[in-house]
Amino acid sequence: MKITPKKEIHTTITVPGDKSISHRSIMLGALAKGTTEIEGFLMGEDCLSTISCFQKLGIRIEQQKDKIIVHGKGLHGLTAPTETLDVGNSGTTLRLISGILSAQPFCSHLTGDASIQKRPMERIAVPLRQMGAVLKGSSDKLFAPFAIEGTALKGITYALPMASAQVKSAILLAGLFAKGETIVIEPEPTRDHTEIMLRCMGAEIQKIGNEIHCKPVPELYAHKIVVPSDISSAAYFIVLGCICENSEIILKNVGINPTRTGILDALLAMGANIHVKNETIINGEKIGDIIVTSSKLHGTTIGGAEIPRLIDEIPVLAVAGCFAQGTTIIKDAQELKVKESNRIKTIIAELKKFGANITETDDGMIIQGGTPLKGCTVESHQDHRIAMAMAVAGMCASGQTEIRNAECVTISFPNFFDLLLK
Ligand code: S3P
Repeated sequence: MKITPKKEIHTTITVPGDKSISHRSIMLGALAKGTTEIEGFLMGEDCLSTISCFQKLGIRIEQQKDKIIVHGKGLHGLTAPTETLDVGNSGTTLRLISGILSAQPFCSHLTGDASIQKRPMERIAVPLRQMGAVLKGSSDKLFAPFAIEGTALKGITYALPMASAQVKSAILLAGLFAKGETIVIEPEPTRDHTEIMLRCMGAEIQKIGNEIHCKPVPELYAHKIVVPSDISSAAYFIVLGCICENSEIILKNVGINPTRTGILDALLAMGANIHVKNETIINGEKIGDIIVTSSKLHGTTIGGAEIPRLIDEIPVLAVAGCFAQGTTIIKDAQELKVKESNRIKTIIAELKKFGANITETDDGMIIQGGTPLKGCTVESHQDHRIAMAMAVAGMCASGQTEIRNAECVTISFPNFFDLLLK
């Protein structure tokens, strides 16, 4: 994909649906009694993998115009798959579905692409095994491909060793089927879409301080779901609006759940001109329009509890750091090493090709901003967020940029380049 920089941008756009909420809408829709109608579902590769897995588990899922309809069969309605469940590139699908499959009265085989096969699954295996689950891989620590022999589970209290919404959700979903209460203790708050949607569907979920309590209920009930636009996708245009001169970008109906708005707080701390208007709440999820205008950014330090609130936005935040005056430090972000690529390494390797002054640390990076970026040829490493972050850098660099293997944006944002280059 070739990117030619733009002098100014004035546009109003609606980015596609939230990836995390779209995954959960299929999974919980499948487990609910009745028909779940989903508006704004993200038709990205990752969410299509979730649909395909649940179809293999006996759930009828269809598209009617711009809606997805899930014909849920209740908490005990899934049937044994006759084929391996392939999650493609989707860590969310693999980790969350494992919680559900651990409790089913059948055996499942799971696999995914080359990137998924390198991502740690031990983090779900440890708590799920404490609940009684049987997960079998071919090495000491669990990696895909692996098998799950479904069995009866018992509730546990589990303190997460890392802030991870995927691990929390895997445990809570297993907890729906367990005997007794399940309690997950978080080191820092992470996205709470599982809890919000479960509550809408009649589950008994309570948040007490940093603990999430889940008590089993006899059934979940279908509920119409409206998926807001994904703030993680909006983030590319939010940063673009800040760093491109004489520009204004309006992003409509973006999910602004406070567990996800770290990108707004970080950019505001860097001096960004960002405003949120028309705030509402749909299905317990906060939504609003985000208005961004060209900004004179300065460096900041991001770490601690801020990290889980912007973990997927760090590639594009690093781009913002390159265009800011002074030093931007990103710390406590070791989790970047186990994403679709090792994002500490891939962000730094690719931004250096533009001439950025950026240094690797053990838990993040240090960016000396203000050095003008020069267009170049970069590599996505088959990581959608690296491809999109580099496209934003290319839009504001001097000269042309070429992104190799840019088609991976279809994982989370199929029309990214159409919106960017329109
Ligand atoms: C997600 C949680 C995060 C995030 C991922 C989506 C989710 O992962 O990076 O893109 O939908 O629960 P971790 O739970 O591994 O931090």
